Order: sequence, then C-alpha cells, then structure tokens
Amino acid sequence: MKLIIDTANVKEIKRLCEILNVWGVTTNPTIIARENKPFEKVIAEIDEVLDKKQTLFVQVVSTDYESMVEEGRYIASLRKNIVVKVPVTADGLKAIKTLHKEGIKILATAINNATQGFVAALNGAEYLAPYVNRMSNYTDGVEETIILQEMLDEHDLDTEIIAASLKNTGQVKELIRNGIESVTLPVDIADLMYLNPATDEAIDAFTNNWYKVYNKKTLR
Ligand code: E4P
Repeated sequence: MKLIIDTANVKEIKRLCEILNVWGVTTNPTIIARENKPFEKVIAEIDEVLDKKQTLFVQVVSTDYESMVEEGRYIASLRKNIVVKVPVTADGLKAIKTLHKEGIKILATAINNATQGFVAALNGAEYLAPYVNRMSNYTDGVEETIILQEMLDEHDLDTEIIAASLKNTGQVKELIRNGIESVTLPVDIADLMYLNPATDEAIDAFTNNWYKVYNKKTLR
C-alpha cells in the first residue's frame, strides 16, 4: 500500500512526511502553478525535502504529441526517481507509447473511466490515476476504479492504480478495503486520515485528570 501526497507545497510535504509514511508526491500543472514560483524552483525545493526513495510525479503541460514527448523527456531528466504524468487523450496515448519505449516511467492521468485506464496500461503506463471524485459527477468513481482494477487483474497487467482526485476519507477507505494499491491525497484529506476530535477530547481528559493530582502536565 502506497500513501502519496497530492501537493507541491514544500512546507506541507515536509510536515506530512514527518507524520505519515509518505511514499511519494504527485503534482499537476494546477498544483504547481498554485505555488506561484518558477517551475524548476518548485521541483528543486520538493527534491530537497524528499529522500531519494520517495517518488515524485510531474505532469506534461503541452497537449500535442511532439511537445508531450519533449516535455516528458525533460521531466525525466530532472531527478532520478521521477515519473512523468501524461493525460489520456489520443496524443497522450501516443506519447505514452513513445516514452515507455525510451524507458521513461509513466503515470497515465486524468482518467475518467475504466476503459481509458485499460488502454493506457496496454500502452505501457506504469501507473494509472483515475479521478475518483471528478468521475463521481457522472458515475460511481470508487466503483469504476474497482472495475479498472478487476480489468487489470483479469488480464495480468501489473500496471498500478494510484487513485486520485479524492475529496473525503470515505472514498479513501472504500478504495483501500477493496484492494486498491495506492492513493494520492490532498493535504486536508491526508490530515483527516489521522485527526479525530474524539482523540483530542480523550487526551485533554488524561491531561486534566493527571494535573489535578500531580499539579503538572508531564510524566516527570
Ligand atoms: C493527482 O495526480 C491529480 O493531479 C489530482 O488528484 C487531481 O485531482 P483534483 O484536481 O480533482 O483535485
């Protein structure tokens, strides 16, 4: 099971890497633009806080085949452990084939139904990012992701699903209990995986009861 963080904010990446077992970081053009800094600076700063084993995912911005391939090659040159994100369109699928042949690891992204994911897997994508919540406007996003996993299993494709576009922990829970290998979580959902007001209440009671007797809020 891989827990991935969906942000380009270095402070948040650093903070969450200290709290959780973070396998990697996914970004997209919107997420990077949100930082309002030059692209290379954002990538260099993320690289600095990640250890070499943590994978970074960076997406192409262009939408035509030649430019996607060129950007994919450039992204792949930025870091050793990096995966190029390519949206599943006609040009994107062509780019996935070419980049895969060159040995570049690909995450096929912006997947909004199971068949898009399946054809991207056949083209050599290492990872697939179904947009669970966005899909939910048209179909059951969790169910469609599980169907995609079944299609991969049925045909012995070892392409891995990284469920994306997640907007609540209920979606995350359903995916994990149904065997989806990886999820990428926005910062607020990553925090909601472990925060619970009832836990805070219980801790407050422990501290207060201890204080009443020992007149301090520490053990020693
Ligand atoms: C992850 O790789 C995607 O970029 C991300 O989860 C997209 O989701 P959203 O734009 O719906 O938040």
